[in-house]
Amino acid sequence: MSEPLKLAIVGVGRMGAIHALHAFELSRETGSCEVVALVDSDVERVRRYASQLGGDVPVLASIEELIAARICNASVVVTPTDCHRENASMLIAAGHRVLMEKPLTGDLQTDREFAAELDRNNPQALMLAFQRRFDAPLQYARTLMESGVIGRVFKIYSSLEDSNPAPDGYNSGGILPDMSIHNVDEVLWLTGQMPQAALAIGSNIYSHALTTCKEDFDDALLCLWFDGIMAQIQVTRNHVSGYRVETILFGSEGQIHVGRFEQKPLEILVEAYGRRGREEPLDRRAFTMRQYPGSLPEFADRFGPAYKAELSAFVDCCRAGAPFPTTHNDALQAQRVISAGMQSVITRRHAAAV
Ligand SMILES: NC(=O)c1ccc[n+]([C@@H]2O[C@H](COP(=O)([O-])OP(=O)(O)OC[C@H]3O[C@@H](n4cnc5c(N)ncnc54)[C@H](O)[C@@H]3O)[C@@H](O)[C@H]2O)c1
Repeated sequence: MSEPLKLAIVGVGRMGAIHALHAFELSRETGSCEVVALVDSDVERVRRYASQLGGDVPVLASIEELIAARICNASVVVTPTDCHRENASMLIAAGHRVLMEKPLTGDLQTDREFAAELDRNNPQALMLAFQRRFDAPLQYARTLMESGVIGRVFKIYSSLEDSNPAPDGYNSGGILPDMSIHNVDEVLWLTGQMPQAALAIGSNIYSHALTTCKEDFDDALLCLWFDGIMAQIQVTRNHVSGYRVETILFGSEGQIHVGRFEQKPLEILVEAYGRRGREEPLDRRAFTMRQYPGSLPEFADRFGPAYKAELSAFVDCCRAGAPFPTTHNDALQAQRVISAGMQSVITRRHAAAV
C-alpha cells in the first residue's frame, strides 16, 4: 500500500469546511490521506475551525505559501468561482493534481480556453467535483433505469432548491451556471447524450431582495430537448422550507422517483412505480443520510456521503496515478448546455399579456 496522500484544502468557507471535515475523517478512518495544510486568506477563522476538527494542521494564507512550502502535490480548490481558473492553474503548474468545485469557471468562453489549456498541457490534472455522480440514491436510480424496469425514458425532471438566497458577497455567474450545473451534469450522466436545444425561463420572485449577491434570477427553469427525451430542470433559492433535491425519471412502463422532500433529509427514498393499476411499487429502497452539525450548510445533510465518496475517489486516483472519473471536459459540456439555455431566456416581459 502506498503512503497516505498529502493533501491541502484551499478555500475553507461553506463548501471547503465540508471537504476539510471529510479529509480529516478519511485520514483517521482509512489512512488514505493526510491533511497537511488548510489555505485561506482568512487565517484566524480557519484556525478556529481546524481546532474544532481536532486537526493540528498549518493554516496558510495563500496558494503562493502552499506552493513555496512544497508539502504536497494534491489539493482541493474550494475558492469562489471567479478564482477557480487562476487558483487551479497555479497549483497545476506547481505539479498538483486538483479536485475543484463546480463550475469550471462559470463562463463558456473561459471554460473553453481553460479546458483547451488543460487538454494541451495537463489533461489528467483536474477532477471536477460533481458529487451527484457519487450519490448512492442517484446511482441506484441510474442502475434501475438501465435495467429497463420503467421502459424507454422520455422525460427527466431534476430539481435543486435552496432555502436561502445566495449569501451576501457570494460570487455567482447566474443561477444557472451556479446551481443548474449539478442538474445538467446529472442529466448528461443519466442519458449519456448531449441535448440538441435548450431554453430557460427566469424570474425574480422572492429571495433576490434579501442578499447583496447580484444574480440574474432567483428562480429558473431550464428545458432541454434530446433525441426522444426532454429534461426539465428547476432551480431556485426560494424554497424556504428547506433544501429540496428531487429527480423523477418518466418511462413508457413507469417512473423512478428519487428523494421526496423532507425538512431533514435523513432518509432518501428511491421508488419505482409501474403502470397505473399495478398494486405494488416495482422497487423501493431507502438510503440513510448522515446528520451533520447545524453549523454546516444545508447541502451537507443531503449530499454529505456523496461529497465524502467523491473526495475518497480523488484520493484513490491520486495514489494510484489513475485518471479521474470526472474532468474539466464534463464541466465544459454542462456549461455548453447552460450557455445555450442562457441565450434563449424567457422572462415575464416576453410572455403574452393576459
Ligand atoms: N458542490 C456543491 O454542492 C457546492 C456547494 C456550495 C458551493 N460550491 C462551490 O464551492 C466554491 C466555494 O463556494 P462557498 O460557498 O464555499 O464560498 P465561500 O465564500 O463560503 O468560501 C470561499 C473561501 O475561499 C477563501 N478564499 C477566497 N479567495 C482565496 C484565495 N485566493 N486563496 C485562498 N482562499 C481564498 C475565502 O476566504 C472563503 O473562506 C464555489 O465555486 C461554489 O460554486 C459547491
